[in-house]
Amino acid sequence: MKTEILKIKSPQEKEKIQKAARILQKGGLVAIPTETVYGLAANALDKSALAKIFKAKGRPVDNPLIVHVCKVEQLYNLVTDLSEEACLLAEAFWPGPLTLVLEKSPTLPKEVSAGLETLAVRMPDHPIALAILEEANIPLAAPSANLSGSPSPTCAAHVADDLVGRIDAIVDSGACSVGLESTVLSLVGPKACILRPGGVTRQAIEDVIGSVELDPGVFRPLEGNQAPLSPGLKYKHYAPKASLILVEGSLEGFIELLSSVEDKKGIGALCFDGEEKMLPLEICVSYGPRDDSEIQAKRLFSALRALDELPGLKTIYARSPKGSGMGLAVYNRLLRSAAFDLIKTK
Ligand code: TXA
Ligand code: MG
Repeated sequence: MKTEILKIKSPQEKEKIQKAARILQKGGLVAIPTETVYGLAANALDKSALAKIFKAKGRPVDNPLIVHVCKVEQLYNLVTDLSEEACLLAEAFWPGPLTLVLEKSPTLPKEVSAGLETLAVRMPDHPIALAILEEANIPLAAPSANLSGSPSPTCAAHVADDLVGRIDAIVDSGACSVGLESTVLSLVGPKACILRPGGVTRQAIEDVIGSVELDPGVFRPLEGNQAPLSPGLKYKHYAPKASLILVEGSLEGFIELLSSVEDKKGIGALCFDGEEKMLPLEICVSYGPRDDSEIQAKRLFSALRALDELPGLKTIYARSPKGSGMGLAVYNRLLRSAAFDLIKTK
């Protein structure tokens, strides 16, 4: 399959917006920019289009998709009940990086939510995504536009690396402003619960609806046969090709740990800006200033992909971010990249 690249800088570029929308209406796959990461979009109402998403990404069929809308009214056909909490949150954070899990309308294909009775929905805060949604006039299911398991794409080149030849088109609108996926908040249980930390912080949500829970799967692997609230939590994610070890502690502790590694061949570090010169390794990639979680979020996935480009890399030791505010999402992604392999130093 030939993948068309549509460079779109502004929603005024009507012809290209229409082209992307037509492909989607006809059941094709188009990677679109959002403020979080690029999404692989398809018509959420079309079973065979949904099946193409799972195939192109190599995504396990039990991992449900997020549906994207450009107007709150579109939700009336997608979910059965819009609670006051849901309305308050949509008003406060949409368009924006908050995904709400609500009761799914039975008329929607079951493939979109991988058979669950619930549906994840959000309105992306990106002018090109909104223009395409409006022009297509259909809700769009869109997981991150990467091969399943690899780091999410924060620019069109990342999408092309993973999906060229597998999808109809890629809309290239430059880099994503947030750089990490949306926060997934479930509103279907007895208490609102964050299933995946992301672009909207726990504190910001609590400022609107009061206290919310944090799913334990954010910090640790599932035990035994435990069924995940968010099926995506089951899988290894965001992983570079080399194995990654997350190191919690001071810069001194990190340097000591690296110094103790006898054979440094194939060993690399993921560190904070300015630390490269202090580390006893040749391969060091930084992902932002130590105290700026927002910049770390923006740069993390491209840093992981940059490490993937280096031949012969076997193990990456990564400096752990502070885990509060936006840093919680950065920490969560790194912990999953490391498949929960964590070392604590002084
Ligand atoms: O920022 C984002 O959310 C990006 C952009 C493209 O919008 N999308 C994204 O999609 O990250 P994806 O498929 O990579 O991640 C969706 C996550 C998965 O962990 C999935 O298990 C969870 O949302 N999810 C989807 N539907 C769900 C549901 N009904 N109940 C619980 N979790 C759900
Ligand atoms: Mg993903």
